[in-house]
Order: sequence, then C-alpha cells, then structure tokens
Amino acid sequence: MEPRTSVIEKRLKNIKRIIAVASGKGGVGKSLVASSLALHLAHNGHKVGLLDLDLYGPSSHIILGIKDEFPAEEKGIIPPTVHGISFMSIVYFTQEKPSPFRGVDISNIILELLAITQWGSLDFLIIDMPPGIGDETLDVIRYMKTSEFLVVTTPSKVAMGAVSKLLKILIELKKPVLGVIENMTMTDSSFIKQEVKKLNVRYLGKIHFDETLEEAIGNADRLAETQAMKNLTVILMEINL
Ligand SMILES: Nc1ncnc2c1ncn2[C@@H]1O[C@H](COP(=O)(O)OP(=O)(O)OP(=O)(O)O)[C@@H](O)[C@H]1O
Ligand SMILES: [Mg+2]
Repeated sequence: MEPRTSVIEKRLKNIKRIIAVASGKGGVGKSLVASSLALHLAHNGHKVGLLDLDLYGPSSHIILGIKDEFPAEEKGIIPPTVHGISFMSIVYFTQEKPSPFRGVDISNIILELLAITQWGSLDFLIIDMPPGIGDETLDVIRYMKTSEFLVVTTPSKVAMGAVSKLLKILIELKKPVLGVIENMTMTDSSFIKQEVKKLNVRYLGKIHFDETLEEAIGNADRLAETQAMKNLTVILMEINL
C-alpha cells in the first residue's frame, strides 16, 4: 500500500467540507469561481483553505494577487494565509516554469502535495481543479473521500457536452454534486438549465459576462465589488454557502 495515503487521511482529518470546483471544459471560469468562493467564505468568518490543483496552468494566485507569500516548512509545509485564506498551489513547486507532467507524475505530485500540506482545522477546503476529467479528478475522488463537486460551464453546447460527461462520471461514482453554475452568460437562453435538469443535477444559476472583471483580476477587494461576484453570491446562498 502507498504509505502516503494514511498520512493524507491524517492531514485532512480536521477539514469539515471539501469542495472541488470542476468542469469537463477549460476556460469556463473554474479558477474564478474557486477563488471567489474561498474569498466569500473567508469573508463570512469561515476557516478556509484554497488548493490549486491545476498543474499545467495554476491561476488562483494570479486571480487573488498572491505574490510574496510562501509556505513555511515545519514537519510538512504550512500554507501561507492570504486574504484570510490558507493558500496552497503547485505554483510553489514549479515556480511558474512550464510543467510538462505525464500521468504518473501528476498523481505523484498530488499525493505528495496532499501528504505534506498541514491545513490544520478548516471549515472548508476549496479545490481549483484543472480542466477535463483526468488524473486530478480521479485522485480527488480517491484520496478525498468526503469531497463534493461544484461544476462550472459556459452557455456553449460544446462546453455542456464535456460537462455532461463529467457529471455522468460523478453520478456513477456516487459523488455529491452541489450543482452547476452557468458562467459568462450574455443571453437568457435556458438551454444549459434544461440539459442539467435532464441529468437530475441541480442548476444553480447564471454569472453574467462581466466586462469589468479582467481589471479586477489580481485585486481581491475589487473582485468582491464586481457584478460577477454579486451573481455568484446569490448562487451560493441557494446552497447555503
Ligand atoms: N463571468 C465572467 N465575465 C467575464 N470574464 C470572465 C468571467 N468568468 C471568467 N472570466 C474570465 O475568463 C477567463 C477564464 O477564467 P478562469 O481562468 O477562471 O477559467 P478556468 O475554467 O479556470 O480555466 P482553465 O480551464 O484554463 O483552468 C479569465 O480571464 C477570467 O477572468
Ligand atoms: Mg483554472
């Protein structure tokens, strides 16, 4: 048996809820939703961790403007606290260098990250997932047994095709799915809502395309003021977050 798995259980023992923000599709707003969700929960007084598991394109640190904070070593590593969030990212290990990992490496890195990170006690651990349904998704399911999924799509048929695949896998593996957020909407089409309902999954609502968002990236306070964040807050209230 892989010795790190028992260490991982110990490391995650005092985390009440683990929420993975995922999508079958890239570029739909997972990192934005994960970062904003972590900010929102921390703002409401919860103890929150944010883990960026996107080994190819880590971006939570860019969205939240995290530059000069690094983990501290002490029998494992302690994530830095930024904007009230304990933050851990693969970026600390790749130092922004491109990281062409193969399947086996990815699982190894995730195992190592989970085994060494000391989160302490948390109300929520939010995971910013990479696009697709790869090793990372399966590893989260395997090593984080209590994890729940929050799924993001855009109004596109192509995105929804990939998202449907992810949803079907999660349903088959009996993973809790909090629901689907439709991000970057520009019309009031109900296509995504209907598709999500066909799968018996909860449709949570829309985040409109927000032209001011790009300017707020890297600044947590400005992010909180955006229309996108306001739309997200309404959605989160629906699921008591
Ligand atoms: N509602 C929105 N309005 C305007 N722009 C948005 C919105 N949501 C996300 N974006 C922008 O779209 C881009 C992609 O968002 P993000 O990085 O969060 O997606 P992702 O799903 O995490 O992508 P990846 O699959 O590469 O990890 C970013 O530049 C982000 O600022
Ligand atoms: Mg991302």
